[in-house]
Order: sequence, then structure tokens, then C-alpha cells
Amino acid sequence: MTKPPIYILAIESSCDDTAAAVLENNKVLSNIVARQSIHDEYGGVVPELASRAHQQNIVPVIDVALKKANITKSQLSGIAFTQGPGLMGSLLVGSSFAKSMAMALNIPLMAVHHMHAHVLAHFIDEEGFDKPVFPFLAMTISGGHTQIIKVKSFFEMEIIGETTDDAVGEAFDKSAKILGLPYPGGPLIDKYAQEGNPKAFQFTKPKVDGLNFSFSGLKTQILYFVQKNVALNPNFIEENRNDICASIQHTIIQIIMDKLKMAVAETGMTQIAIGGGVSANSGIRNTLKEAEAKYGWKTFVPKFEYTTDNAAMIGIVGYHKFLENQFNDASVVSKARIEF
Ligand code: KG4
Ligand code: ZN
Repeated sequence: MTKPPIYILAIESSCDDTAAAVLENNKVLSNIVARQSIHDEYGGVVPELASRAHQQNIVPVIDVALKKANITKSQLSGIAFTQGPGLMGSLLVGSSFAKSMAMALNIPLMAVHHMHAHVLAHFIDEEGFDKPVFPFLAMTISGGHTQIIKVKSFFEMEIIGETTDDAVGEAFDKSAKILGLPYPGGPLIDKYAQEGNPKAFQFTKPKVDGLNFSFSGLKTQILYFVQKNVALNPNFIEENRNDICASIQHTIIQIIMDKLKMAVAETGMTQIAIGGGVSANSGIRNTLKEAEAKYGWKTFVPKFEYTTDNAAMIGIVGYHKFLENQFNDASVVSKARIEF
């Protein structure tokens, strides 16, 4: 007899996107994200506004996710939500909603670590996307994290390298800000870089021991570089935008690739799975594809909609927690900072 399907409703509200998804086992039936454009004019996420927008968005977003999945509340097997890390006011909107809904429906509740979800996003069943085989190396690159992780099973992970200051997403966003580009600047650097020469300008890579990263020095270097050149030519940015973006992106990719090569040499693992918002970057995607032929790696990049913050990735962790009866009760607390 075939087992009845497990339906998980997942809610993600750690930063400035309100997201809900419905999964049937490891397949995504719906994946809805409401982006909060209100922050764009401030050049970054304003926590107070994010929390308020989540409160406005959460009911319609969940409603659309259920409707699109063609699933009623009574069919749900469990509810997964992001416990942290993230902005406290934002996390609380998702967790309170998940808790009360799970209680009202009398179904299990699963608290999910946001970065765990970026790693397990690779296990969402999607046509044309292979899943890594344990053990493998994962690299989470987002606006808040830069980590290299040894993934031994769905729930056993070991961080072997991480940033000592800025995350790689911040390196993109802060560089973009220096160039006068709106927040979040990562996707824009990517866009302009595609038309530019990556070797046009040289930036030095930071020297950081082992598998750790540092990006704050690069940001300062870019700031001085831009200030110096704008003093000589006020139109420097406009005239060289594509080349500057391509050179910045190239440097960031080199930094990442150097550490990945080291991680492969140290662990002997050649499967590399990347996750987090920055894995949407086309330069990183292309470089990893090239590395397959060059170094014999097998690389995994999630489907685009599962790279930046989304609830489907929270749902896949929820599904695996559900299978192992890893449930939480309503006393589970949201955490702005949380150990991985
Ligand atoms: O994972 P994510 O959506 O949110 C966090 O958990 O932080 O990552 C957001 C980050 C931002 O810094 C954004 O600029 C960056 O991902 N990002 C990109 C691209 N798309 C998003 N960075 C470079 N190239 C992109 N195409
Ligand atoms: Zn994220």
C-alpha cells in the first residue's frame, strides 16, 4: 500500500520577504514570495517597516499558497516556519502565525534554521536538478552568511569555514552602494558585469587563514578606488560601470573559488552545492559549471526560485523533520542569532 502524502505548509519571514509554500512530500506545489519594495528607497532593510509589512502580507500570501497548491487547511500534515537567524520583529510574525495555525489545526509544528534550509533546498524534487549524495560540501552565500559546510546527512552538518566580517552578499550590496546603485545591489552588479571586462581593474584579494573569509577590506579598497577616480573624472562611474562591476564580481568569485579549492583539497569531497541569495549570480554559476570540467567536481546550484529567500526551502527541512518526528511545541522561541 502506498503511504498517504505528507503536506507541509512552510512560512519564511526572516528578513524582508514574506513567503509561503506548500509541499507534497519533497515536491513543491506552490512557492509564493511577496517582496517588500518599501525598503528600496532607504538603501537597506528597515526592521520596523519589515515587521509591519509581514503583518500585512502574511495572510494573503498563505492564502494564495494554499489556493495555488489546491490544498485545504484540513489536508495539511504539519507547519514549518523559520526560527532564525533574522530580524526579530520579522521572525515573530511568521512564528506566531505558524504556532497558532498548528495549534488550531492540531498538527505538528517544525522550527527551521534558515541556513539549514538554504543547504537542504537541493533536496527539493525538481525535474532536471540532481540531488547531491551525502557527504558533500555546501557553500551558503547570502546577505547574512558566507559558510563552507560539510554536510554528512540531512541533520548533521559541520561548518569548516566562514566569514570573519561581512557576508559575500554584503560585499556585493555595499560595493553597489558605493557605485550609487539601489539596494539590493547584488543582482545589478551581476547584470552590468555581464557587459563588462572582468580584468579591467585589479583589486587585491584578502589574506585570510584556512577556509575563512573576509570581505570588509575589499569594500574599503573599492571605496578608495572609486573616490580616487571620481576626483579625477566626475563621470568615472557612468563611463566605466560595466567594467567596474565585472572587476568587482570577478574578484569576489576568485575569493570564493580559492576557498572552495582548498576545501576540496582538505576534505577530498568533490560535490559542491551552493545556496543562498548570491548563488543566483550568473558569474558564480558559470564559474562552477566550468569547474566541473576543469577540476572534476560535481556542482549543484538550486533552481533560481530556491536560491534567494523562499519558503519552499523551509518546507523541505520541515518535511524531513516530519519524517523523523522532530516536532516543536508552542514554547519554541524565535532567535535573531542562532547556532547552526
Ligand atoms: O539569501 P538571501 O535572499 O537573503 C539572506 O538570507 O540574506 O540573499 C540576499 C543577498 C543580497 O545580498 C543580494 O544582493 C544577493 O543575495 N543577490 C545577489 C544576486 N541575487 C541576489 N548577489 C549577486 N548576484 C546576484 N545575481
Ligand atoms: Zn537567506
